[in-house]
Amino acid sequence: MKKLHTKMNEYLANQMVGFIKLHNLHWYVQGKGFFVLHEKFEELYDESAQIIDDVAERLLAVGEKPVASLKKALELATLAELDDKFISSEDAIVALYKDVEFWIDASKEMVTLAEEAKDVSTADLFTGYITSYEKLLWMLKAYQA
Ligand SMILES: [Fe+2]
Repeated sequence: MKKLHTKMNEYLANQMVGFIKLHNLHWYVQGKGFFVLHEKFEELYDESAQIIDDVAERLLAVGEKPVASLKKALELATLAELDDKFISSEDAIVALYKDVEFWIDASKEMVTLAEEAKDVSTADLFTGYITSYEKLLWMLKAYQA
Protein backbone atom coordinates (compact mmCIF):
# COMPACT_ATOMS: atom_id res chain seq x y z
CA MET A 1 0.00 0.00 0.00
CA LYS A 2 1.32 3.46 -0.94
CA LYS A 3 1.99 5.98 1.82
CA LEU A 4 -1.00 7.98 0.51
CA HIS A 5 -3.35 5.04 1.07
CA THR A 6 -1.87 4.07 4.44
CA LYS A 7 -2.39 7.66 5.57
CA MET A 8 -5.91 7.73 4.11
CA ASN A 9 -6.77 4.71 6.23
CA GLU A 10 -5.32 6.45 9.28
CA TYR A 11 -7.44 9.52 8.45
CA LEU A 12 -10.46 7.24 8.10
CA ALA A 13 -9.73 5.56 11.46
CA ASN A 14 -9.38 8.97 13.08
CA GLN A 15 -12.73 10.07 11.61
CA MET A 16 -14.31 6.94 13.12
CA VAL A 17 -12.95 7.94 16.52
CA GLY A 18 -13.98 11.55 15.84
CA PHE A 19 -17.52 10.45 14.97
CA ILE A 20 -17.96 8.86 18.42
CA LYS A 21 -16.14 11.75 20.08
CA LEU A 22 -18.67 14.18 18.58
CA HIS A 23 -21.47 12.01 19.97
CA ASN A 24 -19.75 12.10 23.36
CA LEU A 25 -19.78 15.92 23.21
CA HIS A 26 -23.37 15.96 21.91
CA TRP A 27 -24.49 13.86 24.90
CA TYR A 28 -22.25 15.12 27.71
CA VAL A 29 -21.97 18.87 27.09
CA GLN A 30 -23.51 20.94 29.88
CA GLY A 31 -23.99 24.60 30.69
CA LYS A 32 -24.29 27.87 28.80
CA GLY A 33 -24.86 27.39 25.10
CA PHE A 34 -26.09 23.82 25.59
CA PHE A 35 -28.83 23.99 22.97
CA VAL A 36 -26.57 25.53 20.32
CA LEU A 37 -23.69 23.14 21.01
CA HIS A 38 -25.87 20.03 21.29
CA GLU A 39 -27.24 20.83 17.81
CA LYS A 40 -23.84 21.73 16.38
CA PHE A 41 -22.25 18.47 17.52
CA GLU A 42 -25.06 16.57 15.82
CA GLU A 43 -24.45 18.48 12.57
CA LEU A 44 -20.73 17.70 12.87
CA TYR A 45 -21.14 13.98 13.48
CA ASP A 46 -23.42 13.81 10.46
CA GLU A 47 -20.67 15.49 8.41
CA SER A 48 -18.12 13.08 9.88
CA ALA A 49 -20.28 10.12 8.80
CA GLN A 50 -20.23 11.49 5.25
CA ILE A 51 -16.45 11.94 5.35
CA ILE A 52 -16.04 8.34 6.60
CA ASP A 53 -18.10 7.07 3.67
CA ASP A 54 -16.40 9.28 1.08
CA VAL A 55 -12.85 8.43 2.18
CA ALA A 56 -13.63 4.69 2.41
CA GLU A 57 -15.23 4.68 -1.04
CA ARG A 58 -12.32 6.66 -2.52
CA LEU A 59 -9.96 3.96 -1.19
CA LEU A 60 -12.11 1.29 -2.84
CA ALA A 61 -12.20 3.27 -6.08
CA VAL A 62 -8.40 3.18 -6.25
CA GLY A 63 -8.32 -0.55 -5.49
CA GLU A 64 -7.44 -0.33 -1.79
CA LYS A 65 -9.20 -1.66 1.32
CA PRO A 66 -10.66 0.80 3.84
CA VAL A 67 -10.57 0.01 7.55
CA ALA A 68 -14.04 -1.27 8.43
CA SER A 69 -13.93 -2.46 12.03
CA LEU A 70 -13.65 -0.52 15.27
CA LYS A 71 -10.90 -2.87 16.48
CA LYS A 72 -8.74 -2.04 13.46
CA ALA A 73 -9.72 1.63 13.58
CA LEU A 74 -8.51 1.90 17.19
CA GLU A 75 -5.21 0.29 16.23
CA LEU A 76 -4.67 2.87 13.47
CA ALA A 77 -6.16 5.99 15.07
CA THR A 78 -4.02 8.71 16.60
CA LEU A 79 -6.86 11.00 17.74
CA ALA A 80 -7.35 10.85 21.51
CA GLU A 81 -10.79 9.94 22.86
CA LEU A 82 -12.70 11.71 25.63
CA ASP A 83 -13.83 10.13 28.90
CA ASP A 84 -17.49 9.22 29.34
CA LYS A 85 -18.33 12.12 31.60
CA PHE A 86 -20.06 15.50 31.61
CA ILE A 87 -18.08 18.37 30.13
CA SER A 88 -18.65 22.13 30.44
CA SER A 89 -19.57 24.01 27.28
CA GLU A 90 -16.26 25.93 27.55
CA ASP A 91 -14.19 22.73 27.74
CA ALA A 92 -16.27 21.16 24.95
CA ILE A 93 -15.42 24.07 22.65
CA VAL A 94 -11.72 23.80 23.56
CA ALA A 95 -11.80 20.06 22.78
CA LEU A 96 -13.53 20.69 19.47
CA TYR A 97 -11.18 23.55 18.59
CA LYS A 98 -8.12 21.33 19.10
CA ASP A 99 -9.63 18.61 16.94
CA VAL A 100 -10.53 21.07 14.16
CA GLU A 101 -6.89 22.21 14.12
CA PHE A 102 -5.90 18.53 13.97
CA TRP A 103 -8.26 17.97 11.00
CA ILE A 104 -6.89 20.97 9.11
CA ASP A 105 -3.31 19.66 9.49
CA ALA A 106 -4.31 16.07 8.66
CA SER A 107 -6.28 17.18 5.58
CA LYS A 108 -3.36 19.32 4.37
CA GLU A 109 -1.03 16.35 4.76
CA MET A 110 -3.42 14.27 2.66
CA VAL A 111 -3.51 16.91 -0.09
CA THR A 112 0.30 17.00 -0.18
CA LEU A 113 0.54 13.20 -0.42
CA ALA A 114 -2.19 13.06 -3.08
CA GLU A 115 -0.44 15.75 -5.14
CA GLU A 116 2.87 13.85 -4.87
CA ALA A 117 1.04 10.74 -6.13
CA LYS A 118 -0.56 12.83 -8.92
CA ASP A 119 -3.98 11.78 -7.65
CA VAL A 120 -6.00 14.94 -8.36
CA SER A 121 -9.33 13.47 -7.29
CA THR A 122 -8.08 12.54 -3.82
CA ALA A 123 -6.38 15.93 -3.53
CA ASP A 124 -9.69 17.57 -4.43
CA LEU A 125 -11.60 15.52 -1.84
CA PHE A 126 -9.29 16.56 0.98
CA THR A 127 -9.03 20.16 -0.23
CA GLY A 128 -12.78 20.37 0.39
CA TYR A 129 -12.24 19.18 3.96
CA ILE A 130 -9.60 21.87 4.55
CA THR A 131 -12.11 24.51 3.39
CA SER A 132 -14.85 23.16 5.71
CA TYR A 133 -12.62 22.82 8.76
CA GLU A 134 -11.08 26.27 8.28
CA LYS A 135 -14.58 27.75 8.09
CA LEU A 136 -15.53 25.90 11.28
CA LEU A 137 -12.38 27.18 13.01
CA TRP A 138 -13.34 30.76 12.14
CA MET A 139 -16.87 30.16 13.47
CA LEU A 140 -15.53 28.72 16.73
CA LYS A 141 -13.34 31.81 17.17
CA ALA A 142 -16.36 34.02 16.52
CA TYR A 143 -18.47 32.03 18.99
CA GLN A 144 -15.83 32.42 21.71
CA ALA A 145 -15.15 36.15 21.08
FE1 LIG B 1 -29.18 13.25 19.72
